[in-house]
Amino acid sequence: MSVLIAYGSKRGGTAGLADMVADAFRQEGFTVDVAPARAVRSVAGHEAVIVGGALYASRWHRDAKRLVRRHAGELRGCPTYLFSSGPLDESAVQGMIPPVKGVQALMDEIGARGHVTFGGRLTPDAKGFVASKMAKQHAGDWRDPEHVRTWVAGIATELRPPMAKGA
Ligand SMILES: Cc1cc2nc3c(=O)[nH]c(=O)nc-3n(C[C@H](O)[C@H](O)[C@H](O)COP(=O)(O)O)c2cc1C
Repeated sequence: MSVLIAYGSKRGGTAGLADMVADAFRQEGFTVDVAPARAVRSVAGHEAVIVGGALYASRWHRDAKRLVRRHAGELRGCPTYLFSSGPLDESAVQGMIPPVKGVQALMDEIGARGHVTFGGRLTPDAKGFVASKMAKQHAGDWRDPEHVRTWVAGIATELRPPMAKGA
């Protein structure tokens, strides 16, 4: 089974999460394609699609948003899961953080099967007026491969044909 993983990332943290998601799917026996959302021309030929986006001021990365809008028709007919990243603290592993309003609206539009918020990353040398100020207090990496693996394992169980479950 093949899964497309597309991401919108400004500073690389969400791209790294997409790679963790890809590794976790490979461990579950899936074939994966990983690509920046803006480079995706087609979502056809995959049994499932994962779209991840960085959160900035409670808004999902524009590339991720545009991908979902562009392919909404196809995504409605294909199991699709979204992820967001991410809080610069432990909150994402301490409890389930619901999607922001814009992401919830996209989920409703395509009938997405699920969503998770993963912890984020901000490097101490982050560029940009606001980001560099934030980095003075909130630099760190809260992306958790175990959190990713647990989420992917749940999806893998949903995607496997019933005969294969428990095999
Ligand atoms: C200016 C700024 C605003 C942010 N706003 C949010 C936010 O609203 N919600 C959130 O969970 N994280 C927020 N973050 C944290 C980022 O989502 C986190 O750094 C994420 O890993 C960035 O992903 P990227 O490296 O792929 O761009 C913000 C970070 C910056 C620098």
